Amino acid sequence: MERLKNKIRDIPDFPKPGIIFKDITPLVRDPAALRLAVHQLLSPFLGRDITAVAGMEARGFIFGSLVAWELGIPFVPLRKPGKLPYDVQSVSYDLEYGSATLEAHIDAFDCNDKVLLIDDLLATGGTAKASCELVEKLGAQVVACAFVVELDFLDGRKALDNYQVHSLLHY
Ligand code: PRP
Repeated sequence: MERLKNKIRDIPDFPKPGIIFKDITPLVRDPAALRLAVHQLLSPFLGRDITAVAGMEARGFIFGSLVAWELGIPFVPLRKPGKLPYDVQSVSYDLEYGSATLEAHIDAFDCNDKVLLIDDLLATGGTAKASCELVEKLGAQVVACAFVVELDFLDGRKALDNYQVHSLLHY
């Protein structure tokens, strides 16, 4: 895990003063590190009944689609509003200031799908919780959520207390 941690770059005061941004671009430009991260994300779920992976825009697309590819199952993008061309289901959630929305196509999942949610980062948990709601609104079941980075001090895990949570790196 130290090898992965060395590939996460801290950017102070981004996107605003006081925030230390966890930059995953060094990790994704290193093929061996990216492969390791993908394998570590999916390893607890090998042999489990998972039929689809969903990833949150935007960085969840990178890791989620690779996990889905590796497992040989469908990948579903959960997108920011107004991006998807077909009929959508949506879930809105509160941010510190204002609100955000995630959308997915109404036929994104089969009703018996058992879904693994993947994102790069668990912070407050708002995005992941809304993603779970969206998957469930579309008739599928969330099996677990997996993240490359978890910011323990923000306690996002608490928002996901009904779900299994797996994170590779803790800060
Ligand atoms: C980041 C991150 C997660 C979310 C976590 O995405 O990639 O999706 O925030 O925060 P939370 O746990 O407090 O909800 P961001 O909104 O920056 O989108 P991006 O990936 O498109 O940059």
